Amino acid sequence: MTQPSELIADDIEQYLARHANKSMLRFITCGSVDDGKSTLIGRLLYESKLVFEDQLSALEADSRKVGTQGEGLDFALLVDGLAAEREQGITIDVAYRYFSTEQRKFVVADTPGHEQYTRNMVTGASTADLAVILIDARKGVLTQTRRHSYLVSLLGIRHVVIAVNKLDLVEYSQDVFDDIVGEYTSFANDIGLAGVVAIPMSAYVGDNLTERSSNTPWYHGPTLIEHLEHVEIDDDLRTGPFRMPVQWVNRPDLDFRGFSGQIVGGTVRPGDRLRVLPSGKESTVARIVTMDGDLDEAVAGQSVTLTLADEIDVSRGNVLAGAQMLPGVADQFEAHVVWMGEHDMLPERPYVCQIGTMTVQARITKPKYKVNVNTLEKTATNTLALNEIGVCNISFDRPVPFDAYAANRDTGGFILIDRLTNTTVGAGMIAHSLRRSDNIHWQAVDIDGDARRVLNGHGSQVLWFTGLSGSGKSTIANDLERKLYALGCHTYLLDGDNIRHGLGRDLGFTEADRVENIRRVTEVARLMADAGLIVLASFISPFRADRGAAREVIGADQFCEVFVDTPIDVAEQRDPKGLYKKARRGDLINFTGVDSPYERPEHPDLRIDTTATSPEDASAQIIELLRSRGAIA
Ligand code: ADX
Repeated sequence: MTQPSELIADDIEQYLARHANKSMLRFITCGSVDDGKSTLIGRLLYESKLVFEDQLSALEADSRKVGTQGEGLDFALLVDGLAAEREQGITIDVAYRYFSTEQRKFVVADTPGHEQYTRNMVTGASTADLAVILIDARKGVLTQTRRHSYLVSLLGIRHVVIAVNKLDLVEYSQDVFDDIVGEYTSFANDIGLAGVVAIPMSAYVGDNLTERSSNTPWYHGPTLIEHLEHVEIDDDLRTGPFRMPVQWVNRPDLDFRGFSGQIVGGTVRPGDRLRVLPSGKESTVARIVTMDGDLDEAVAGQSVTLTLADEIDVSRGNVLAGAQMLPGVADQFEAHVVWMGEHDMLPERPYVCQIGTMTVQARITKPKYKVNVNTLEKTATNTLALNEIGVCNISFDRPVPFDAYAANRDTGGFILIDRLTNTTVGAGMIAHSLRRSDNIHWQAVDIDGDARRVLNGHGSQVLWFTGLSGSGKSTIANDLERKLYALGCHTYLLDGDNIRHGLGRDLGFTEADRVENIRRVTEVARLMADAGLIVLASFISPFRADRGAAREVIGADQFCEVFVDTPIDVAEQRDPKGLYKKARRGDLINFTGVDSPYERPEHPDLRIDTTATSPEDASAQIIELLRSRGAIA
């Protein structure tokens, strides 16, 4: 007897053979559970008879997913599965379903439709060619319909199907359908959404899903599946300019030097002239290498390895571009940002940013306004909360090659990641670079940090003291500076309380203000280190992300984090300025350790336990550290 797993394996073989050359349509369904979304997806999968997965092993693991002997999917089982996922809440954000018909292969991203789930939709939509927006015929165009449509337009999806569902519950009324379509069309025009097709249907009954329904004799357009099968997906991408972010560079000990990645725009052939960005070096394509041999041509969507005619520098994160139509290179942009973090966005907070295959540091320098996606109203803002969408100025720590998102979703889109939690907190779409980033260049000077260090007779360092108020940072820094002075070192002490009288005079103690305070201090410390000084920076600096950013901006070899570790009860006992008392009384808000957090350093260069170490011993330890780093003799 044949084992079920063998049957499935056979099915897969046959299946893949039959479907290898079909085009693929990726689409997303938008709507809430009540709109009949799972019924619609379940039906589509059921009617299409056979599901495929890109993971064969996943298929084999779940034999029930593939109908043996082509008898089709168990419809009820599938709908159950969706419901179960939904109950698990947001752990399963986006469910991808694979199915196909004789004409085409499909991937449908099913996203939960609740108001707070903008982020799931963004995830599901970022690769979609088409969106099916469900409207309950009894309810018409709702706030959520508008929200979904706005996102669809923002995310650059060019094909939209309005599925006016549950028409059976309004007696298949053409008037109801026409009214909804009329209202929707005028809204779609407002947000610049073109290519909208409206289909009257009942997913439950099966009207106009895969077969034309006799219940809607007044409708002459395609069924949903016909439309999905025949809609022309833009091949703008293939005909557009060539783009390939480099995923990795082959090891030099292999017999050829190749650059691997996925082509995200255009077409490439041997002999094509390419430019490497941001370096700007040019060369010619020698070979297009794949696992199945060399190609004469490769197009957007394919993953390939290119070899070039000349030995030029290319590294991971670079973009290979057709030399005719080049992407821009800039470090400051205006972008739409969809915020997906639980925690509000903080201007000037450094986030990790992934754009193409590049990872950079990004700061949102200035949120300009947020868009009320229900009314399209714009309001000025300084931050973005979960699921809010805004237009922001954003700054990267180095120039990156880019296209406008409207021209290329891959080279124009980016995500922002929180350094602490490693979660995605934002998705961005580049509108354009900022002029000022093109016109401000780094002025090369002859006398540099190295020259000044030689003159000083010692190296430069930023000693970054972090710890609670009253932990003893200033006391230790003060003692250390006296010792360094005696050793003939050029120093400067930047102290929290003092700086806040001038450079940070306009700042308070909210999280956003502290981020900005530390950013300014970081820049000043960097300049002072470049001037050849040993800088002692003494700030509570309670947030790990900002201290991490300071290390990056100043450079790890010039930066030394000293954690002045004093338990809160000890600091509170000392209370040199009487601030803890005030804070406990409620007369001082946002006080670190009381009602504002302190994030302990995980890997400080030096930890000083002030309950066991005197300030003199602590500063002696730091002198040793400076010696071991070669900063002083
Ligand atoms: S930081 O958080 O931005 O790094 P910074 O080190 O500059 O703080 O300033 C801390 C000093 O400001 C403290 O030593 C304390 O004297 C004073 N201060 C006043 N209000 C607060 C507050 N709410 N939280 C912490 N420190 C405060």
